[in-house]
Amino acid sequence: MSKYPVNHRKEPHYRKAKQKGYRARSAFKLIEIQKRFNIFKRAFYILDLGSAPGSWLQVTKQYAIENLEKYNDDHYFRSYYKIMGVDLKKLTPIEDVEIVRMDLTNKELMNKINEYFNREKLDLIISDASINKSGNRFSDQAKQIKLCYEILKLTKFLKHKGNFVIKLFQGKDYEEFYKVLKKKFINIKSFKPKSSYKKSNEVYLIALKKK
Ligand SMILES: C[S@@+](CC[C@H](N)C(=O)[O-])C[C@H]1O[C@@H](n2cnc3c(N)ncnc32)[C@H](O)[C@@H]1O
Repeated sequence: MSKYPVNHRKEPHYRKAKQKGYRARSAFKLIEIQKRFNIFKRAFYILDLGSAPGSWLQVTKQYAIENLEKYNDDHYFRSYYKIMGVDLKKLTPIEDVEIVRMDLTNKELMNKINEYFNREKLDLIISDASINKSGNRFSDQAKQIKLCYEILKLTKFLKHKGNFVIKLFQGKDYEEFYKVLKKKFINIKSFKPKSSYKKSNEVYLIALKKK
């Protein structure tokens, strides 16, 4: 079963994404998350997991460029940004963004992250990664949560007080994952963007300020 409504091309967010040059309507989910939680505040070193086709990377690059102007002050600041996107699928390149085609559960990814960011810690990790849905809510949810625990391992690259966003499917293991996250971050919010399909059980956890 398709995850999109039959006439998704007529859907307003789809049309708006096309108009704005975003590769997917998911761009608006990240924009909503930013408007609500300001996760990109002083974010210059950013990792995006499950990046294809690349709309979160497009949005991330816009915010990172804005940050170079906005936060050029005496507080934490970098004079350039570094963004890495990771996906199993091939992505059309984006200028000044490092794209890694790899399974994010592959241990080799840790070396790639260290290499690209010169072993420096990251300001922000965002993940829109999701398994290929089969239509069976229970097994899909179980597979997604397994992927989420793998993603969680990568938060070791996040700096103290860094922010983290992850997509989950609501279901039986959700509460447990939330509790695990609560041990690692000061503030956790769950958020369902307006631009998510109503029928979808996806939800984002916004984990602010790594302990
Ligand atoms: C909803 S899409 C991401 C859309 C993206 N945020 C955008 O705005 O264009 C989810 C992505 O997660 C990727 N994914 C799922 N499991 C993965 C894994 N183990 N390693 C890397 N990427 C994975 C899929 O290939 C898919 O492209």
